Amino acid sequence: MTNLNFTVDAEKCTHCGACERDCPSGIIRLKNQLPLISKREENSCLQCEHCLAVCPTGAISIFGHDPAVSIPLASDSFPNLQSMETLVRGRRSVRQYRQDDVPSDLIKRLLADLANSPTGCNARALSFLLSDKRELTKTILGEVIEALEKRQADGAALPEFLGDGLKAFKNKGDDWIFRGAPHFLIVTADKDAPCAREDVILALAYFEMLANCAGLGACWCGILSTILEIAPEFRSRLGIAPAAPFYTILFGLPAVRYARTVQRDSAAVIRRIGDIHRPD
Ligand SMILES: Cc1cc2nc3c(=O)[nH]c(=O)nc-3n(C[C@H](O)[C@H](O)[C@H](O)COP(=O)(O)O)c2cc1C
Repeated sequence: MTNLNFTVDAEKCTHCGACERDCPSGIIRLKNQLPLISKREENSCLQCEHCLAVCPTGAISIFGHDPAVSIPLASDSFPNLQSMETLVRGRRSVRQYRQDDVPSDLIKRLLADLANSPTGCNARALSFLLSDKRELTKTILGEVIEALEKRQADGAALPEFLGDGLKAFKNKGDDWIFRGAPHFLIVTADKDAPCAREDVILALAYFEMLANCAGLGACWCGILSTILEIAPEFRSRLGIAPAAPFYTILFGLPAVRYARTVQRDSAAVIRRIGDIHRPD
C-alpha cells in the first residue's frame, strides 16, 4: 500500500484546479475546494510529483517533499534554444583526458541531477555504477584485458575488433577501451521495468549533456558494454544483475578543446508521414 503523504496547505491553495487537471492518473479531485486523493486511489499514483510541480503557490506536498526545496521555474529558467543547439551540435565524444579525478562533489551533483531523468511509467528503477577514482578505472582496465586474454588463451573466439584491441594494448599500451578516461558510469535498470533499456540510454544521454555543461568530457563506451556482454563473469564481478540492461559512458576532465561544431544537418532522413500515409 503506497503512502503518498499528500498534503495541501489550505492557506496557500487558490483552488485553481491545476493539480486536478494535470494528474496523469486522474486521481486528484477538489473536495470542499481543496485537492484530495482518496485512500482507495492512492495505489494508482504514478509518483510523478506533477501535483507538487504544477501548483503555482507551492501549496502541495507529496512524499514529505517541501515544495520550497524545488528549483523555482520561470519562463526563462531553461537554457534557450540557441544554447541547446550549440550543446547538441558542439558536444563531442572526448577521447583525450586529463588524469586528475573529477571532484567527488561534482560527480555527486551530476548523479543527483540524473536521478531526475524520465523513466517509462516513472519506474525510476535505475542504478548508477560508478568508477570515481582514476586508479580504480586503471585496475578495472587491467582486469578486463586479463579476462579477454584468458578467453583468447582458452581458445574462445573473440570478435575481430577485440583481438586487434588486445594487440594494440600489448604492443603500444593503447587504451582502446577507456580511452584514458579517469571515470566511467554504467547505468543499469531493473530488467522488469516497463521501459528498462530506453531508461538506461536516456539517462546516459542526459548524463552526457550534464557532463558537458559541467565542463567535463564524455564518451559512450560500446566497447566496454560489449565486453561485459561477452564476459558475464566480469559483469557479475561489477555487480550487474543478470539480464539487467546496462550501458556505459566514460567521463573526466577533457584534455582537448573543440573550436567549433560539426556539420551534420542532413545526416538523418526526414520523411513526412503525410507523404507516405494516405487515409482511405
Ligand atoms: C552507443 C554509442 C556507443 C559508442 N561506443 C564508443 C566506444 O566504445 N568507443 C569510442 O571511442 N567511441 C564510442 N562512441 C562514440 C562514437 O564513435 C561517436 O559518437 C561518433 O564517432 C561521432 O562522434 P561525436 O560523438 O564526437 O559526434 C559511441 C557512441 C555511441 C552513441
